[in-house]
Amino acid sequence: MKIVHAASEMFPYLKTGGLADVTGALCKSLSRFGHDVSFFIPGYRKILESPEFAKAKLKTVLQVELEDDFLRGEVYALPLGKRLTLYVLRRDEFFDRSNPYGTANRDYDDNDRRFIWFCKAIVEAMHVLDIKADIFHCHDWQTGLAPLYLRIVEQENRISLGLKTFFSIHNLAFQGLFPSSSFRFTNLPDEFNELDGIEFYEQISLIKGGIFFSDKILTVSPNYAKEILTPEFGCGMEGALKVREDDLLGIANGIDTEEWNPKTDRHLPANYSLQDRSGKRECRNHLLDTVGLSPTDNPVFGMVCRLTEQKGLDLLLSQMSFIVKNDCRLVVLGMGDPAYERALKRWAKTHPDKIGLRMVLDEAMSHLLEAGSDFFLMPSIFEPCGLNQMYSQRYGTPPLVSNVGGLHDTVVDYREDADVGTGLLFEPNEEAFGEALDASLALFASKSDYEKMQTNCMKRDFSWSNVVKEYETLYSESL
Ligand code: ADP
Ligand code: GLC
Repeated sequence: MKIVHAASEMFPYLKTGGLADVTGALCKSLSRFGHDVSFFIPGYRKILESPEFAKAKLKTVLQVELEDDFLRGEVYALPLGKRLTLYVLRRDEFFDRSNPYGTANRDYDDNDRRFIWFCKAIVEAMHVLDIKADIFHCHDWQTGLAPLYLRIVEQENRISLGLKTFFSIHNLAFQGLFPSSSFRFTNLPDEFNELDGIEFYEQISLIKGGIFFSDKILTVSPNYAKEILTPEFGCGMEGALKVREDDLLGIANGIDTEEWNPKTDRHLPANYSLQDRSGKRECRNHLLDTVGLSPTDNPVFGMVCRLTEQKGLDLLLSQMSFIVKNDCRLVVLGMGDPAYERALKRWAKTHPDKIGLRMVLDEAMSHLLEAGSDFFLMPSIFEPCGLNQMYSQRYGTPPLVSNVGGLHDTVVDYREDADVGTGLLFEPNEEAFGEALDASLALFASKSDYEKMQTNCMKRDFSWSNVVKEYETLYSESL
């Protein structure tokens, strides 16, 4: 099949979260399975400055209509493999910035123009470059209007492009909401600024474009696909999603098992495997040393995430005294909400031998943390899929996760089934999280239980090659 993907992030070119891991690995796997894959991404500064970009070729120049103007953009093509091409849509006024979405405190004021332009530019570039795709698959709100523009091109030209469109929701909490006045940048007929268009409580919502105008809507786990139909997890979009319920489904993400492999991981001081885990001890010592924590026979808990409400920072803070009182260790790698950063810093200051923090984006450190921790923590309030719980299982680090979204789909509670249990699941409240932490101390103290859990973890296969088959089937059945 000829498959086009579009998103604002792709690992390793631009990553702020799991979206990049997923688009990067999914496209790599699809191309290895013999499909011809193109990927559209905005020309962010980080991409323009990457050494590979020097090899990119200018393919064409676009004039993209935005309200009353036609704004120029350049399309660069960078071959990433035999059947995978990265198309960089370059307009420096919009994307040559150090951060993709905003400064530390706020989103950029022109995100409406930037991403409406991006959606239009994707469709325009596909047209000009005559990319005859079978499948068009885009991700998250930054690309939400692209399926709508494809449909309009089809109607205006009275031709059938013959392609099927898929829209993946990686996180419904981010919807691309802008004031109603931003509608003018879309150049769409007014009928689209209504309830069955992209209007959303007197604003416009780019994600609604993807929800209403793509052939199929995907989420990144089956459980999250069910959850978002409810007011509790639907973020106000549950009504719109209900309308499309028959075309909504979830496929749990995979992980890049080459990038995340304890046997070969170049970021670790020692490698290890299911058969020989001795190197994990060295990773643990190295992790404690690196963040300046004192040695202990009690568990080392690790956490890598954006420090936001979604990731359960309130729950974590509610259990800090438990961790300290039981002489455990906690290492957190993450950046985010300044209030959470301050609260964690206070704990680290009063317990410098027990609580270690790294408030930076550090890919190497995230690998060390997965390998060096005894348990991985993900007390998320909601979690569309989550990747770290899968990385941690691959690294023999049983995860303690709340029983929501993709965490529910990818972790089996050891207390319920010791034969296959890989971690602990709890409802996202203080009491249940406290109980899970308590249970983890007992499991860690029993060598046989802990090792069994580790074995169950390391035996699991989360590789994309399995997941990609589900996408393939879905794509081919749609044609
Ligand atoms: P989300 O996309 O909601 O942030 P995921 O679990 O899907 O959550 O993916 C997060 C990704 O970002 C993981 O690969 C994780 O390791 C990585 N990550 C998050 N914060 C950091 C950080 N400070 N340094 C390095 N990697 C990070
Ligand atoms: C989002 C979600 C996360 C998911 C990731 C990749 O950022 O918050 O749960 O794993 O997208 O799909």
